[in-house]
Amino acid sequence: MDRIRITGGNALNGTLPISGAKNAALPLMIASLLTDDTLTLENLPHLADVESLIRILGNHGVDYSVNGRRESQEKGYSRTIHFTARSIVDTTAPYELVSKMRASFWVIGPLLARMGEARVSLPGGCAIGTRPVDLFIDGLRALGAEIDIEQGYVNATARNGLIGNRYVFPKVSVGATHVLMMAAALAKGQTVLENAAREPEIVNLADCLNAMGARIHGAGTATITIDGVTSLSGARHRVIADRIETGTYAMAVAMTGGDVLLEGAEADLLENALETLEQTGTEITRLNTGIRVRRNGGGIAPVDVTTEPFPGFPTDLQAQFMGLMTMAKGRSHITETIFENRFMHVQELARLGAKISLAGQTAVVEGVPVLRGAPVMATDLRASVSLVIAGLAAEGVTEVNRVYHLDRGFERLEEKLSGCGATIERISG
Ligand code: UD1
Repeated sequence: MDRIRITGGNALNGTLPISGAKNAALPLMIASLLTDDTLTLENLPHLADVESLIRILGNHGVDYSVNGRRESQEKGYSRTIHFTARSIVDTTAPYELVSKMRASFWVIGPLLARMGEARVSLPGGCAIGTRPVDLFIDGLRALGAEIDIEQGYVNATARNGLIGNRYVFPKVSVGATHVLMMAAALAKGQTVLENAAREPEIVNLADCLNAMGARIHGAGTATITIDGVTSLSGARHRVIADRIETGTYAMAVAMTGGDVLLEGAEADLLENALETLEQTGTEITRLNTGIRVRRNGGGIAPVDVTTEPFPGFPTDLQAQFMGLMTMAKGRSHITETIFENRFMHVQELARLGAKISLAGQTAVVEGVPVLRGAPVMATDLRASVSLVIAGLAAEGVTEVNRVYHLDRGFERLEEKLSGCGATIERISG
């Protein structure tokens, strides 16, 4: 199994390009199931999760072709890919595929809307809590689907099509909002989703669906109105910049010191996290070309954060921010409200010398002047990268094991960081 070896202590300086967002790419790719026409997606990141979803969609009958150049020439770089689901050959998403990536459960929405049936395995995914699917089921039932759960599979049917309705999410869910928006796009009549997720990835999907002929208003607010249409066409659409990758590298610079332009980053996708970083003493400059992040001298001020749905502080940056706080000048409190079991990085950061104690959903972090490199291991994507950025700031050598977690969500991580002066390499085997 590959691992990443980092020799810490170098400041980061230079230009680091930001990729297309994984969490926007996945639902956009799934939207290709809604039409027999070609959906062309630009700026798709080259990630293990994207490759897995290409295979999963292929199983349902989606053909794909990579634009222009041969795939080998593009290895590791964002690409333009054409997806065409001329016909749906299989409405079952089997356990072997869905268990590898939770987001593939989302095919249930488009399959049900287009084919009137879907049989989708209950998902697996990152080990960060129980992550049930009750909201998807309640919401699709509200649109008239008949659903039962049998032997680990969700069987959903809507023989005469889905019917628009009002649905109030009892809890904000990104995935359930994506799915209901896709399903309602092809339902009869109007659907109103209330207490919907407001994440930028929701807006990116709604824009794409509208380019395909859907009639969706209000994405990005808590109330989304969808007037169903009978069919959708193809479109060409661009994946937004990855706000989690942006925040991760901004936190890396805040931790190591230095001066980096995060090229292509969009500040309005992560204002809350940028303002939090400013409070720690990091200088943030919002430019047309990206975001410049600087910290030269001066200590890291401790700042308390609580994760919240967008526009609040994202749970997907919680581990990385905790990494930064381990070296702050004082005590900070980090409260996780989205996932109940998202503190697995705590014991690994402790291996680097961090002082963190847990009190329920809150981590109390006592900043230390130095971290020291050690072998570490992570159990989910964002936790892994928090160990990478802590390793960049630690004295000596840190080895991060189970790199496949990083490959799920960070495009060319070693190359991007070494391009800014980090000593970081991948060791195979
Ligand atoms: C998405 C992101 C993930 C991010 C999360 C929260 C993708 C591919 N993944 O995940 O990176 O951490 O949003 O910003 O975009 N819940 C239920 N019942 C449901 C569905 C969700 O109780 O049916 C709960 C979850 O357990 C969790 C909360 O709702 O506690 C929010 O989860 P949700 O927003 O659905 O996360 P995902 O869409 O899976």
